[in-house]
Amino acid sequence: MIVYFSATGNSQFCAEWLADHRKDDLLDTFYYIRHGVAAELQSEKPWVFVMPTYCWQIPRIVEDFIISGHFSGSRDAYFVMTCGGEVGNAEPKLQELCRRKALTYRGTLQVVMPDNYLVMFTPPDPAQAETMRQKAVATLQQGEQWMEAGKSFPTIPVGKWDRLKSGMVNQAFYRFYVKARKFYAKDTCISCGKCQHVCPLNNIHLENGKPVWGKQCTHCMACISKCPVEAIEYGTATRNKQRYLCPPYQGRESQ
Ligand SMILES: Cc1cc2nc3c(=O)[nH]c(=O)nc-3n(C[C@H](O)[C@H](O)[C@H](O)COP(=O)(O)O)c2cc1C
Ligand code: SF4
Ligand code: SF4
Repeated sequence: MIVYFSATGNSQFCAEWLADHRKDDLLDTFYYIRHGVAAELQSEKPWVFVMPTYCWQIPRIVEDFIISGHFSGSRDAYFVMTCGGEVGNAEPKLQELCRRKALTYRGTLQVVMPDNYLVMFTPPDPAQAETMRQKAVATLQQGEQWMEAGKSFPTIPVGKWDRLKSGMVNQAFYRFYVKARKFYAKDTCISCGKCQHVCPLNNIHLENGKPVWGKQCTHCMACISKCPVEAIEYGTATRNKQRYLCPPYQGRESQ
């Protein structure tokens, strides 16, 4: 079963591609994460967990989803991490997660896609983004061949900086940087409520038709990227930046 979390569509694209090519079931974790429901899942095919990279690690909300879930059937677990550049030293935590869930760790595939972290970076323009997605498909094809042959993904080489980034930097990032307080909606907000509905942590509610952010944010970028009129900003960091959303996977014919 292909199990995914995605805020701006990259990981969803990869998960749908894999489900299509592996003829496997697809599960979106959004409902479980948003409602705090522990998943009870069964699959005879290997588990393939697909997710973005957050500060060189598995997103904490996906980690919590796996810890709380019950996965019966196959004991094999593959991980596919989409990222803007690299996943750093993300593997040890995934290996530990597998030990905890009595799953066999079969490796992590790093899939480089457009970076959606609007509050820090400027996403690539549409033409560059399309080129990146085509390269990502080639990476998925390679990953699919390994899985089909029953092989594990190769180990991702790491150096001391990767350990630092996925270790202390990741801890500090969540502790000091991942906050919602700089989000606000401009007067152009049309009170459609979309930001409220797309937040995986139910962290937004509308007051007098305008969004108000709570304290549960994980900086996934769904609200700011999916607002239909680009009314959301994050302090001054996102002003005049083009929003990024991955176009939906269209099936094999379009590849
Ligand atoms: C909070 C946050 C942290 C991120 N950290 C990293 C990172 O450490 N390394 C990296 O290459 N990309 C990083 N990114 C980029 C995303 O992992 C990447 O764009 C991903 O494909 C987005 O997936 P999605 O569209 O499925 O949400 C980060 C994005 C966010 C929102
Ligand atoms: S998605 Fe945008 S327009 Fe809709 S309520 Fe939220 S901020 Fe306003
Ligand atoms: S408030 Fe916005 S950025 Fe924060 S978790 Fe919700 S959708 Fe993601």
